[in-house]
Amino acid sequence: MTFTPDTITLALSKGRIFDETLPLLRAAGIEVLEDPEKSRKLILPTNQPQVRVVLVRASDVPTYVQYGGADLGVTGLDTLIEHGGAGLYQPLDLRIARCRMSVAVRADFDYAQAVRQGSRLKVATKYVGIARDFFAAKGVHVDLIKLYGSMELAPLTGLADAIVDLVSTGNTLKANQLVEVERIMDISSRLVVNQAALKLKQDAIRPIIDAFASATT
Ligand code: PRP
Repeated sequence: MTFTPDTITLALSKGRIFDETLPLLRAAGIEVLEDPEKSRKLILPTNQPQVRVVLVRASDVPTYVQYGGADLGVTGLDTLIEHGGAGLYQPLDLRIARCRMSVAVRADFDYAQAVRQGSRLKVATKYVGIARDFFAAKGVHVDLIKLYGSMELAPLTGLADAIVDLVSTGNTLKANQLVEVERIMDISSRLVVNQAALKLKQDAIRPIIDAFASATT
């Protein structure tokens, strides 16, 4: 692989986003040539010599695209909101990796009563921005505890009264005896594009956006 100024770099995270972006890439005539589950490589070639995929942590995708480490990327709305979106053109809701952001508590915790009484809630989450805005809009006082994963443990260990986390099938909540008490927002993945790259590499990037758009609708 040789990288020229015309190289297009797409940032993806492994797992659901990577898997569900592959059909969209195919619609744009792009085939990723290596399986990230079988290789430790972080830069994956495609059938188009000028297009490459970089694998980054989900929460790092907006940062890579913002600062031009990647020209475009696919990121969850949750991650995008927490990042803030600075420097990012957001042309498309790709409607993939769909789930929801919810509040969950232990089954024996009376959330409605705690809210009614104006109690101060301890809320553990990776999504502090979304949680802060949500509870502020409801007028509920919260102490936010930032975690980086396994949020479900927090109410079970007494670290927090509630969590704000992504829910897809609901199996993780159920397996940990937690119940969903509020649905904050629906989440799906978005295409984000570096604003400077969109201008400088229009001829290469526009067809990708257009192909993704037609494959999405
Ligand atoms: C997410 C989320 C929940 C789980 C929900 O975690 O944080 O733990 O998926 O899915 P379910 O409703 O289908 O059980 P993920 O596996 O993405 O890893 P993370 O903890 O690193 O976010």
